[in-house]
Amino acid sequence: MKIIETNNLIKRFDGVHAVDRLSIGIEKGQITGIVGPNGSGKTTLIDLLSGVLEIDGGEIIIDGTKKISRLLPHQVSLYGITRTFQNVRLFEQMTVLDNILVAETERNVFGSFFEGHAQCHYKTAEEVLRKVGLLENKNRLAVSLSYGQRKLLEIARVLAMKSRIYLFDEPFAGLFPEMRKIISSIIQELKRENKTVILVEHDMGLIRELCEHILVMDEGKLLAQGDPGSVLGKREVIEAYLGR
Ligand SMILES: Nc1ncnc2c1ncn2[C@@H]1O[C@H](COP(=O)(O)OP(=O)(O)OP(=O)(O)O)[C@@H](O)[C@H]1O
Ligand SMILES: [Mg+2]
Repeated sequence: MKIIETNNLIKRFDGVHAVDRLSIGIEKGQITGIVGPNGSGKTTLIDLLSGVLEIDGGEIIIDGTKKISRLLPHQVSLYGITRTFQNVRLFEQMTVLDNILVAETERNVFGSFFEGHAQCHYKTAEEVLRKVGLLENKNRLAVSLSYGQRKLLEIARVLAMKSRIYLFDEPFAGLFPEMRKIISSIIQELKRENKTVILVEHDMGLIRELCEHILVMDEGKLLAQGDPGSVLGKREVIEAYLGR
């Protein structure tokens, strides 16, 4: 069953067709990889699927029934969609723990500050921080974390939100092997829990290891799709990466 589909989805930036009449389907409970050369529209697609950008044309269909031509931020959480950002976004002047609590309690920073946090939120926050290996740093300010720790905190934050669909935009980029291993096992665990994962990634080793299905984008369009083994060897895919 397709949990997300796009139908002729379009996003333009001043004449650039970042996403160009894109029609794709994402299978429920699978890890789908999205690959393609720099500037091919991967992040823009994630931005459209997570309501960060407005759609210029076409539609997104969720669960085969809900057709959306305008995805608003509150609908995104309603549909159980969460994401990480290619350039990590944290509440810099809050502690590691508060970054999680805020995400859990509400999307609204001030709301969660003033309402206080329920005990169960602390429990989940500590659980996800332990999972990514950041529990002993829970009282540090986010701003003081290393690059890798920041990426792990962002992953912990989406885990705490207990979603159905996880969109990861280059979660492994620039990380040391031990941190990569943590993220890789988290993604595999999400699959075991029957969650749906969309993974944007440039490292083809990781793509082969984690994804059963990949979509290759080029200039905002779908260039190829299928299992990584057969798709990554295709001549048009290799040519797109080499830059024609
Ligand atoms: N906010 C923006 N304003 C103008 N142009 C943009 C904007 N965001 C993206 N673009 C353009 O849209 C196209 C697609 O960009 P996008 O960031 O989606 O690519 P990408 O596949 O994620 O690339 P990368 O692998 O480098 O992350 C590029 O030509 C980019 O320059
Ligand atoms: Mg990108």
